Amino acid sequence: MATDGFGRRIDYLRISVTDRCNLRCRYCMPADGVEWKSPIEVLSFEEIERFAGVAVGEGIGKIRLTGGEPLVRKGLVDHVRRLREITGLEAIALTTNGTLLSRYAEQLVEAGLRRINISLDTLDPDVYAEVTRGGKLSDALAGLEAAVAAGLDPVKINVVVVRGLEQDILGFARMTIERPLHVRFIEYMPVGDADEGGETSCAALPGGWTHADHVPSDETLERLAAEGAAAGLGELVPVSKDDAPGGWGPARYYRFEAALGTLGVISPLSHHFCAECNRLRLTADGKLRMCLFSDEELDVRGALREGTDEDVRALIRRALAMKPENHHDRIGTLRRMSQIGG
Ligand code: GTP
Ligand code: 5AD
Ligand code: SF4
Repeated sequence: MATDGFGRRIDYLRISVTDRCNLRCRYCMPADGVEWKSPIEVLSFEEIERFAGVAVGEGIGKIRLTGGEPLVRKGLVDHVRRLREITGLEAIALTTNGTLLSRYAEQLVEAGLRRINISLDTLDPDVYAEVTRGGKLSDALAGLEAAVAAGLDPVKINVVVVRGLEQDILGFARMTIERPLHVRFIEYMPVGDADEGGETSCAALPGGWTHADHVPSDETLERLAAEGAAAGLGELVPVSKDDAPGGWGPARYYRFEAALGTLGVISPLSHHFCAECNRLRLTADGKLRMCLFSDEELDVRGALREGTDEDVRALIRRALAMKPENHHDRIGTLRRMSQIGG
């Protein structure tokens, strides 16, 4: 079992397999001029698998693959299959924008994937195109249906809440009534946009993050309860940990009384959850990040290319020892969300 310097058990590794994406969400990527990491900078699947094997030996039991968009990387299905074979690894999950899932959901299940989180910020096709800079809502919804049909479970939907954006939260609430779908409303986080000096430009949407765009989860919950009651969905009640859809992240769950699914909130800014943090992150270019909001990184690519498993293990132990206690309300990071993997 791995613990960090503050006694937290670290058993969850988020691996970004690519910084590339087929969408350009306004809060995640610039409109153009994105500089992709070159293929030589990006870890090969073999290198990721070797790292994962060492990490599992150090106490990691759960791995989530993220991006950019993980499904734009060729060979991902076989990568999942090989990761599944690591002895001691309990589970693998995927976070995706869903637009390529119609093609891959069944193959992913066949390769051993069970859990999936799909990013979908609105149910309005025009707003979806606006937020993703050209994405088609119908692609994401078809992907969601493919995930359900393929038997992925749980299927969670991630909605980043941004003030002033028409997101149809009642529509999302209705999706949880008759099917076991789990919709999580995420507070918009100040990731990216910082310069080398740690300053952030904090431009308003459509650009970066400002405090004015942030909606505290309590406000979202109040809106859900009021709009749901008015629409005849009944009362919104908290769901106990045992009854929640399961997961390794910081969400808190609720449900409308008769619903098969749940509604969750992820509140990094209004309710700090650093005390329960259980994770490390590996970026596509092979840097180990100790905290989403900290730009401190350890280079594991060098160790994977030139060192032994023992060198890799030593870096993981160093990362655990260096993991900060919390993010101290930091605004902005050097990397954008697409280069960290959420
Ligand atoms: P489950 O295992 O299903 O609970 O997923 P998860 O919440 O761990 O992962 P997902 O990729 O779906 O991420 C959902 C949101 O939570 C994203 O916006 C992440 O950036 C955010 N998130 C995940 N981990 C952290 C964290 O350590 N700190 C902060 N501040 N946000 C996080
Ligand atoms: N704040 C909150 N969530 C974000 N995501 C991407 N950028 C941000 C941000 N600035 C979400 C994506 C995806 C998850 C991995 O992170 O929508 O669901
Ligand atoms: Fe792509 Fe996800 Fe970033 Fe949107 S939030 S641009 S889907 S990586």
